[in-house]
Amino acid sequence: MNSTHQNKQPLYISICTQKGGAGKSVFTTLVASFLHYVKNYNVAVIDCDYPQWSIYKMRQREAEQTGSSPFYGNKAEVFFAKLGKPTYPIVPAQPETGLIQAMEFLSAEEQSYDVVLFDLPGTVNNENIVQTYFAMDYLFVPITTSRINMESTLPFIILVNETMIVNQGNVKLKGLYPFWNKITGREKKELFDYYQKAIMELGIPIMQTRIPKSVRYDKEQSIEGNDYLFLSTIFPPDKPLLKGSNLDLLVDEIITIISQPE
Ligand SMILES: Nc1ncnc2c1ncn2[C@@H]1O[C@H](COP(=O)(O)OP(=O)(O)OP(=O)(O)O)[C@@H](O)[C@H]1O
Ligand SMILES: [Mg+2]
Repeated sequence: MNSTHQNKQPLYISICTQKGGAGKSVFTTLVASFLHYVKNYNVAVIDCDYPQWSIYKMRQREAEQTGSSPFYGNKAEVFFAKLGKPTYPIVPAQPETGLIQAMEFLSAEEQSYDVVLFDLPGTVNNENIVQTYFAMDYLFVPITTSRINMESTLPFIILVNETMIVNQGNVKLKGLYPFWNKITGREKKELFDYYQKAIMELGIPIMQTRIPKSVRYDKEQSIEGNDYLFLSTIFPPDKPLLKGSNLDLLVDEIITIISQPE
């Protein structure tokens, strides 16, 4: 445990983008689980993506299955006995009131949290949601190399970054970090160089870790059980699937960023 985190205000983090289907909910889940189950942080998730509530609903599905499947039930028993703490809470919230709901949740809790992850909707046309973005400590933005994704993600990154810089001191947001997701290996080097240069020239630090496109990013608990698990709110990724996913590298890079002294 990184003891310097204890008794401090929790860090607010969001893995966000305006672009739909880029990996917000999947990476919020994976990063939350990795920090909570592997890196020993105390994590809470505020799922503000109503009415989808995909993380909250994933937890409900998983909890049901862990209760009814001997395979997952047994796995949970062994894992949590060793971990010595329960799963992290996932609070279903509304996009406009997510911040207030998070504060209410935290003040009602006896224990303290190190990191609170927000799954926010991609809409930036609502004043309350925009304020929520700037009330985060750090934003991490998944981007893919598809033209369509870049065309909507770049203006988003630029807008948030400029607003952050102009309002420095008045907003909580300290940093915006894009990372490449769904990399196939077939992309041309020039393409990365081009985008990387364009983003860096704006003074935006793009992360080093690149996440490959891989079916494991869709791999939840199987109905039959007895399969390796990657995407879960109850368990960390199984080692054979972690290998080559670069998720561990992404989380290490996130930890380095959020551990910087202010
Ligand atoms: N690296 C990856 N490799 C393969 N599939 C991925 C990867 N990252 C994300 N996906 C898949 O892309 C889909 C969309 O991901 P996700 O639901 O996290 O996106 P989102 O940004 O939350 O979307 P929405 O805007 O609908 O909330 C999911 O099926 C997810 O498993
Ligand atoms: Mg989502």
